[in-house]
Amino acid sequence: MASTNPFRYGSPVEGEYYFPLPQFNKNIRSYLDNRIHVVLYGPRRFGKTSLILDIAKEEEKESAVFILIDVYNITSHWDFLQQLLRSLRPKQTWFKKLKDKVLGTKLIPTADVDPVGQISFSLHPDFRSEKDVKELIQDTFASFNDLDAKVIIAIDEFQKIFQLNDSGWLATTMRTQMQGLKNCVFLFSGSQKSVLADMLNNQNSPFYKSCMILDMPNPGDDFTDWIISRFKKAGIKCAGQPINELRKLVYDTPNYIQQACYHISSQNVEKVDLAEIRSALRTIVSQSAFSFESLHNSLTLFQQRALRLCANEEKALFSKEFIDKYQIPSAPTLATSIKSLKLRGLLDPTPNPGQVKFEDPLFKLWIKSFS
Ligand SMILES: Nc1ncnc2c1ncn2[C@@H]1O[C@H](COP(=O)(O)OP(=O)(O)OP(=O)(O)O)[C@@H](O)[C@H]1O
Ligand SMILES: [Mg+2]
Repeated sequence: MASTNPFRYGSPVEGEYYFPLPQFNKNIRSYLDNRIHVVLYGPRRFGKTSLILDIAKEEEKESAVFILIDVYNITSHWDFLQQLLRSLRPKQTWFKKLKDKVLGTKLIPTADVDPVGQISFSLHPDFRSEKDVKELIQDTFASFNDLDAKVIIAIDEFQKIFQLNDSGWLATTMRTQMQGLKNCVFLFSGSQKSVLADMLNNQNSPFYKSCMILDMPNPGDDFTDWIISRFKKAGIKCAGQPINELRKLVYDTPNYIQQACYHISSQNVEKVDLAEIRSALRTIVSQSAFSFESLHNSLTLFQQRALRLCANEEKALFSKEFIDKYQIPSAPTLATSIKSLKLRGLLDPTPNPGQVKFEDPLFKLWIKSFS
């Protein structure tokens, strides 16, 4: 039988597949303990959900009630309510009370049973009007007050709440609950920095100055040691240098580090060197080639050229030499293209003027591979 691969990627990790961040975990928990709402910012695939689950474990050990609401795919208040109810189902005794007190006849059991074996519920057709749905969201939140415990409400990818076309109703409702529910504290996570910054710093936003914003830290040198120890588990020798190179190429994104290492481990190699790293990266870039191609095709010619310039040159992007080399008519055209690429979320600003960063390091490697 093939041995188990010591690396995992693609979905949140825990246990031996998780490299702990004890100091950061403690830091977040101390804000939560003092009822300071926290926004956890981290780029995509950087380990936000894994960290939230790790915090949940620690908090539950100390008898807090931890509720994780996944709003990634919501498009309406109705979807939000469904996700809210779904997040409560594992808290069985409480969910029963909530059903009896608040939801009553408004819920009906559905035929499906979810993966943990609990019966699913859906809203009764008589109570699906927008007014009922809004009332139920408010009543469900208000019921948290009855819980005789510290409650942590985590909302992953919470910028979605601000992107509903609802004139800010859900965001305003959440803000009211954040202030009103004295036994509850909120932990939000998000990956779009500009959206988050606007939510927290814009005076017209219901979340204005309501939360402490914390950046996911880049893992330290001990992450390299951890990776090496995982390879060792599979009987594969590995030094620090190739892993450090890998980390640099993928901007320290844990998901891509684990994905590349997964591929190397599955190749039955004896030793990891730079050639293995490059070949693993080529493999994982090619696995995304289809979506990168469609993304690339949706861009204008100048945006495509601007991306090539940014992928290959890194510094002094606006120099005459580069503008000529990449056949861009002028510096203002380059500026406009970069601006629209930032708006599309493909490039991120950096603190250094004249530099940009790719949102997805694999997309950068893909662009570099043909230019
Ligand atoms: N602390 C960690 N230790 C080891 N690997 C990690 C860690 N955090 C994240 N990873 C890697 O990153 C992958 C994605 O983790 P996770 O889903 O928690 O990230 P995320 O930031 O929530 O991603 P998304 O942006 O897709 O929501 C995991 O499958 C794992 O390979
Ligand atoms: Mg996540």
